[in-house]
Amino acid sequence: MANDSVLIFGAAGHISLPLARWIRYKSPETRLRLVSRSADQRQRLQVEFPDAEVISADYLDPASMAAALEGVSAAFIVTPDFLDEQRAMEILCAEAKSTPTLRQIVRILGNLPYTKLGDIPEKWRSVGGTLTQHHVARAVLDGSGLPVTYLNMPAYLMDDLVRWSGPIREHSVLLMPYDRRHSWVDPAEVGQAAANIILSRDDRHIGQYYDVESGYEVLRFGDVANMLSDVLHRQIDYNDSPETWRSMVGSRYRAMFGDHGDEYFLAFYHFEQTHEFSVRNSNVLETLLGRPPTSLRSWMMCNANAVLPR
Ligand SMILES: NC(=O)c1ccc[n+]([C@@H]2O[C@H](COP(=O)([O-])OP(=O)(O)OC[C@H]3O[C@@H](n4cnc5c(N)ncnc54)[C@H](OP(=O)(O)O)[C@@H]3O)[C@@H](O)[C@H]2O)c1
Repeated sequence: MANDSVLIFGAAGHISLPLARWIRYKSPETRLRLVSRSADQRQRLQVEFPDAEVISADYLDPASMAAALEGVSAAFIVTPDFLDEQRAMEILCAEAKSTPTLRQIVRILGNLPYTKLGDIPEKWRSVGGTLTQHHVARAVLDGSGLPVTYLNMPAYLMDDLVRWSGPIREHSVLLMPYDRRHSWVDPAEVGQAAANIILSRDDRHIGQYYDVESGYEVLRFGDVANMLSDVLHRQIDYNDSPETWRSMVGSRYRAMFGDHGDEYFLAFYHFEQTHEFSVRNSNVLETLLGRPPTSLRSWMMCNANAVLPR
């Protein structure tokens, strides 16, 4: 049997890079095909993975997807916020069906447990984006009959604290409108879990829908600010005002996601608050990793400098 060949999208990113590193460590004979649309990232990847094939491919470009999938045995799919998932997953499915070697797709999702497309407020359902896109993607993949395993992250990624660190550094405040219960997960461990699933070659993972969170805490954002204060040895206040959030970081969300980007994410946070009792902990990630996952406090202690450089 030829060695397995694994296609990894977003290979320079915080989920996929740890996935690629784990596969190379655990199974150096597995061939890696690493995807990034950025020439700089491809150059970096080729230096770190001299034996890997490093390519560019775009979910919305059928020819590049056909070339990316050719001859692979597994594909890891992570998509950015606001991708046109209907089109992207239709292209993926069409090309995957023409790839006889492919025996597994592992797809990242980001839905609160037990929420459905119909739960999303009408006003936002047609807009697409984070509120709806993972439901849309799943419907296309489920309908395809392809061998898919879902890794759903019903949690905030721990390194969001780095992305949100501007107000923490400048004003000693954690901004998050609509305080609510939420769980957390280290993105590197989601990547490692995906790698373990792929390397296991165990077909019983196919068709599974795994919720992956750290399994320790369901925290309110006020509790997160208190934890951060203790770890950083500096008082970090919590501010849940939508108006303050809009005035301090709204322009960033408009720049990233268009004119209504700030309004959209406020609606997203409000939706999560409305559904906060769906948030829960499981031991699924622990099972997939074969060890206890990292807690938010441990992650903060290891990454304090990235949140607040000293
Ligand atoms: N942040 C959170 O707390 C959180 C929580 C739960 C779920 N999620 C979900 O998790 C997913 C990943 O989030 P993230 O912040 O890691 O996403 P991201 O970095 O914005 O995107 C993931 C990867 O997709 C690749 N990519 C983007 N557009 C592409 C295209 N058209 N074709 C091929 N590849 C493309 C990018 O790689 P290149 O640019 O290098 O090609 C990137 O590394 C999202 O779907 C999000 O909704 C996030």
